[in-house]
Amino acid sequence: MLMTVLTKELRKESTGRCLIMIAMLENKELMALVDLTKEPPREETQRQYYFMAKAAKYVERERKEAGRPLTYFVQNFGCQMNARDAEKLAGVLEKIGYIPAEDETADFVIYNTCTVRENANLKVYGRLGYLNGVKRKNPHMRIALCGCMMQEPQVVEKIKKSYRHVDLIFGTHNVFKLAELMTTMFESGRTVIDIWQDTDKIVEDLPMERKFKFKSGTNIMFGCNNFCSYCIVPYVRGRERSRNPKDIIHEIQQLVADGVIEIMLLGQNVNSYGKTLEEPISFAQLLREIEKIEGLERIRFMTSHPKDLSGELIEVMKHSKKICRHLHLPLQSGSSRVLKEMNRRYDKEKYLNLAKKIREEIPDISLTTDIIIGFPGETEEDFLDTMDVVKQVEFDNAFTFIYSKRTGTPAAVMENQVPEEVTKDRFERLLKEVQAIARKRAQVYEGSVQQVLVEEINQQDKSLVTGRMSNNMLVHFPGDVSLLGTLQTVKLKECKGFYYMGELPDGKEAEHE
Ligand code: SAH
Ligand code: SF4
Ligand code: F3S
Repeated sequence: MLMTVLTKELRKESTGRCLIMIAMLENKELMALVDLTKEPPREETQRQYYFMAKAAKYVERERKEAGRPLTYFVQNFGCQMNARDAEKLAGVLEKIGYIPAEDETADFVIYNTCTVRENANLKVYGRLGYLNGVKRKNPHMRIALCGCMMQEPQVVEKIKKSYRHVDLIFGTHNVFKLAELMTTMFESGRTVIDIWQDTDKIVEDLPMERKFKFKSGTNIMFGCNNFCSYCIVPYVRGRERSRNPKDIIHEIQQLVADGVIEIMLLGQNVNSYGKTLEEPISFAQLLREIEKIEGLERIRFMTSHPKDLSGELIEVMKHSKKICRHLHLPLQSGSSRVLKEMNRRYDKEKYLNLAKKIREEIPDISLTTDIIIGFPGETEEDFLDTMDVVKQVEFDNAFTFIYSKRTGTPAAVMENQVPEEVTKDRFERLLKEVQAIARKRAQVYEGSVQQVLVEEINQQDKSLVTGRMSNNMLVHFPGDVSLLGTLQTVKLKECKGFYYMGELPDGKEAEHE
């Protein structure tokens, strides 16, 4: 990707140079072609490469002073969207000369924060306190904070006051600006803070450092317009913006060329993808286009909002050879009254009908969900409605959350906040039910043969590898490093509750490309 942009951009500036020759140059040399004696370019992607070249000079200066390579560590606290941002941050940091480290002893530590529930915030404050001591021992250390928490003014105030060892603070809308902000940080020697309220910008073609060679996430949209009454995401991620389908397809093609076989399409509500584009296109149409990409084997996506899930999407999923047999469909509550208060714009009946239709059309699909317990005013009767949906739908898995009050959201000022002990009791009852059903559902594949994407060497037992089935369940089976990133046909020998132990079928060699 880097090559594409720079060749495109540099062609204008370095007339006479052979395009292919430029494409063959190393990143370092490419950055050297940026002319730092000129003003920074106005076009955003070019501008950021300019600042990468500039920041690289400061990193090089510090590297010489330290007499060793400088390291970075990005700690992610949030969802897949945040994880994808972290890959963008790592991409820039590697371009400007940092090398990855395993922990917070690194020279550049960046916390990519989440604020969806209060405990996500508390973790960050705890770790920041600890970093103060680490920084005192390392004169080259710099600390940066970014992500959703930084979009909350009271958080930034608290950090300015109580955590003065932080060098750089930015938000969710200007992640692409890291190199420019770091340049300012190096030049000013002071804490740099840059938070945008919102943006309509989508900056394409910046470097990325992927965690896995064979699978990747890709944003198809940013932000959220739904304003569920308990949720802070629309306030910290801004208004919904869809990426141009051409840019998405192009990025996936590049990823596939770079070894990716599984893609996860990311958005807070992928079912409303494309509605605001100049040439509107539905999510189902986008999926059809992505399916055509040769070499791509698996497609996943999240998250689907039930209110926008179309019959067209179910059709596309049903006939697709690549879309995985997994749908994450957050329920949040089974009570129509609570759902209304939550501003979810569907009711119990609509959800049940939708789940039924999906299961009928795609019988081997795995349905998972998110549920919040203890939303303000939730009665025992409301809770029993949630339990009822759980029992009727028989989710393959469910993430259960205790309601967390988020300042600035409508639910935070609702009366009847549910007492902690009541919430806890309901939460435990729900968890028990969810787990019993998940165990039961998981078993149905025992003895069958499934395609598995091998993701890693098993953490506990190095003679095993761990892979993921199309329905998102994990399988452990004997294998070695040569299987990583390959699709294997695996026999599921034994269900261990939420995962399987498997083996390659008798007499069969692992399938190598
Ligand atoms: N866009 C996704 C959800 C993103 S947030 C969707 O609409 O489905 C992930 C999950 O966090 C939500 O599904 C919800 O279950 C949970 N969540 C969000 N705000 C919360 C809050 N204030 N308290 C507890 N859980 C919350
Ligand atoms: Fe939050 Fe609702 Fe948007 Fe999901 S759809 S991110 S729960 S506001
Ligand atoms: Fe958290 Fe932000 Fe994701 S608040 S859940 S990291 S969008």
